[in-house]
Amino acid sequence: MKKIAVLISGQGRNLQAILDACADGRIPAQVGAVISDRADAPGLKKAASASVPQSVVSYADHTDRGTFCVSLAAAISASKPDIIALAGFMRVLTPYFVERFSGRLLNIHPSLLPKHRGLHTHRAALAAGDAEHGASVHFVSAELDGGPVVLQGRTRVRSDDTESRLAERVMHDIELKIYPQALAWLARGELVQDGMQVRYRGRVLKAPLGLDDLEPEFR
Ligand code: GRF
Repeated sequence: MKKIAVLISGQGRNLQAILDACADGRIPAQVGAVISDRADAPGLKKAASASVPQSVVSYADHTDRGTFCVSLAAAISASKPDIIALAGFMRVLTPYFVERFSGRLLNIHPSLLPKHRGLHTHRAALAAGDAEHGASVHFVSAELDGGPVVLQGRTRVRSDDTESRLAERVMHDIELKIYPQALAWLARGELVQDGMQVRYRGRVLKAPLGLDDLEPEFR
């Protein structure tokens, strides 16, 4: 059975979706470790409820990002994961870290990448007057939110959308579906990172997969 290490900083809604999909067999893997950069991350309670080993690597205990990422990599490696899933992990990673886990490192980002990298993506989409918004699962590269995109879900921006309404819809209708699906593909060996390209079932993706490509059990 493959093992996933999930990295969190916050509420852990994506973590919960991953735990559920592993528990019911949709992802052929188990969550072997949950690691947070904050001892007070509410998501750690979700790890505890699922009896998954958890650890905290606090940024404040380190002098800089380099030493933090060395400690983080050591904590991850201790659980010997096949896959590392960043799930609302709010730290920028060093090239050393990204290289070390290359091809096994996925992130979920709440925008239609390459639009709106970084923070406050829902606010940015509304401010830009975007007709569509969504979320993306991508392999992690050294560039922030810049790695090759695997799967994106889209939603129409409505005239009465507020930042929080849009955030809720992106989370529930998109993020909690697309991340477990992408992790299932990776765990099955159907998804392979090839530099800045993604191979899915042996073919290079010309464009990210979409909600229509989700398997029925992930819809
Ligand atoms: C999600 O919107 C994720 O895409 C972003 O941070 C948020 C984390 O939420 N990177 P949660 O911790 O999964 O509830």
